[in-house]
Amino acid sequence: MRVAVLGATGAVGRELLAVLERRRFPVTELFALASARSAGSRLRFGSAEIEVQNADDFDFGICDLVFCCVDSDVARRFVPRAIEAGCCVVDNSSAYRMEPDVPLVVPEINGDEVRPPLVANPNCTTAITLVALAPLHRHWKMRRLVAATYQAASGAGAAAISELLSHTDAALKGSRPEPSVFPRSLAFNLFPHIGDFVGSYTKEELKLEQETRKILNEPQIKVSSFCVRVPVVRAHSVAAFVCFQKQPDPKEAEQLITQSPGVELHNPYPTPLDAEGKDAVLVGRIRSDAALERALSLWIVGDQLLKGAALNAVQIGEKLLEVM
Ligand SMILES: NC(=O)c1ccc[n+]([C@@H]2O[C@H](COP(=O)([O-])OP(=O)(O)OC[C@H]3O[C@@H](n4cnc5c(N)ncnc54)[C@H](OP(=O)(O)O)[C@@H]3O)[C@@H](O)[C@H]2O)c1
Repeated sequence: MRVAVLGATGAVGRELLAVLERRRFPVTELFALASARSAGSRLRFGSAEIEVQNADDFDFGICDLVFCCVDSDVARRFVPRAIEAGCCVVDNSSAYRMEPDVPLVVPEINGDEVRPPLVANPNCTTAITLVALAPLHRHWKMRRLVAATYQAASGAGAAAISELLSHTDAALKGSRPEPSVFPRSLAFNLFPHIGDFVGSYTKEELKLEQETRKILNEPQIKVSSFCVRVPVVRAHSVAAFVCFQKQPDPKEAEQLITQSPGVELHNPYPTPLDAEGKDAVLVGRIRSDAALERALSLWIVGDQLLKGAALNAVQIGEKLLEVM
C-alpha cells in the first residue's frame, strides 16, 4: 500500500508515522507531505529517514491512501485533489465530518460504516468520550450527556506545546508573554475557550454534541459541555454526567468497561500522565450520580494524539484495507 501522510511534520502527523510503524501497517512506499515551510526536512519512519515533500507539488496519483493531518482549510484544498487522483482518504480535520455521505468513525463503535473514498476521523474529545460511553449506551441507552473537559495543549498542535512550555519557563522567571497560539496564556492557567465561539457555545463544544449524535446514530441525544484548555502537555480528561433511559448500575458499568475493546478500568482514577502514550482510554470513579435520575458520573482520560487522532485514523485505515 502506497501511503501519504499530509501534515507529517505536525503533532498528529508525527504520531501517525509512529502508529503506522508500530501496528505494521502494510506500507510499501511512504510519502511525507507538508507545506513549503518544511519541504526538504527529514522525518524518521522506522529505521528509514524520509524527506518531507511540498504537498502543493505532489502527484496524488502515485499513492493509494492518504492520512490527512492538516487544518480543515488546508484539508478542503487537498482532499478533493487526492480523491480525484484515485486515493482513499482518512481525514483528521473537521472539514467533512458532518457531511451526510461521509462516514464519521470510531472503529470500536461504528467500524462497519468505513467505506472508500473518504472517512472522517472524529474530534479528539468526542472519540475518547464515546469509546468509554458506547458500552454503557448499548446497555442502558444514553439520553443526555453533560461534560466538563480538561484538554491538553497538544490538542491545538505542535506550536501549542511549544507555547505552553515557553510560557511556563517565562512565568517561572517572572514574566508573562502575550500568547500567539492560544487565546490566553496557558502557563499556570486555564480557559473555557477551545475553537471559535458560535453564539454562547464554542466550536469544540458543538463538535461534541453533533459528532456524538452522528457516531452513535442517535439524533435525539442531548449534549452540553464546557470544554476547557488546561496546562497539560498531552492527554485529555473528561468529567461525564450521563443520563440513561434505563436504570444504570455502577458495578455493572465497571464490568461493561472491562469487557469492551479500547477502554480500560483504572481505579481509583486515571490522570493524563497515566494515559500518555497509551492506546486505551482509561476510566475511573464510576458512581451513581447524586443529583441526576437514572444517571452515572465518571472520569475519562485518553491520549488525544492516539485514540483522539493518529491511532483512530490508522484503525480506520486498517478497516479500509478490507474494503478497498
Ligand atoms: N492535535 C490533536 O490532538 C488533534 C486531535 C484530533 C484531530 N486533530 C486535527 O488534526 C489536524 C492536524 O492537527 P495537528 O495538531 O497535528 O496540527 P499541527 O501540529 O499544527 O500540524 C499541522 C500540519 O499541517 C501542515 N500544513 C500546514 N499548512 C499546510 C499547507 N498549506 N500545505 C500542506 N501542509 C500544511 C504543517 O506543515 P508545516 O510543518 O509545513 O507547517 C503540519 O505538518 C487538524 O485538523 C486538527 O484539528 C488534532
